Amino acid sequence: MLDTLLKDSKKQLKSALKHKKHPFRYFTLSTLSLNGAPQSRTVVLRDFDSENLILTIFTDSRSKKVEELKEDKRAELLFYDPNQLLQLTIKVNLTESKSSPEKFNQLPEPTKKDYCSLQGPGVSVKGPDAVKYDFEKGYFIKLKFQAYQIEYLKLKRPNHLRAKFLIEDGWQGEFLVP
Ligand SMILES: Cc1cc2nc3c(=O)[nH]c(=O)nc-3n(C[C@H](O)[C@H](O)[C@H](O)COP(=O)(O)O)c2cc1C
Repeated sequence: MLDTLLKDSKKQLKSALKHKKHPFRYFTLSTLSLNGAPQSRTVVLRDFDSENLILTIFTDSRSKKVEELKEDKRAELLFYDPNQLLQLTIKVNLTESKSSPEKFNQLPEPTKKDYCSLQGPGVSVKGPDAVKYDFEKGYFIKLKFQAYQIEYLKLKRPNHLRAKFLIEDGWQGEFLVP
């Protein structure tokens, strides 16, 4: 039974890569800011290695999250599917932060735009039209996160299901009181 829950977690994450409408495509990435306060934002799941439990996102190398992860590699990823009332909370460490010119060059122009504003993300501007772009100069990077804990929670009757899986226990898992 525990094993089924871990398998289901992986299945849902894989499904989010294939199906753009899967609620797990968008998730919350929380990091620790330089003064220790939590910082959360929505990101898109770009890759998932189900064997090694590595999750990938794309971002701008100048963004706050990158600066924060340089200081503290710990992060938490929160996935929620309102149709299944399923929540996954995944604790991770950043293991790789790499630019990928090949991948960047393959992106369609509108997507490239997300990574090549002249002014860095979060900089104050007069309005949306004041943002300038340089398509030659991308700040596109891939961030890879290694999961070390997965918590599964599904609300259902008669019994809610809550379980925790740890890398250090070989992902065998244990049930928790919901
Ligand atoms: C639907 C949605 C999807 C997003 N996807 C990403 C993403 O994949 N990567 C990313 O860096 N930011 C993404 N963002 C923007 C972030 O939520 C965030 O505002 C931005 O990355 C700056 O965050 P930071 O200053 O904390 O680094 C997305 C925002 C929304 C609303």
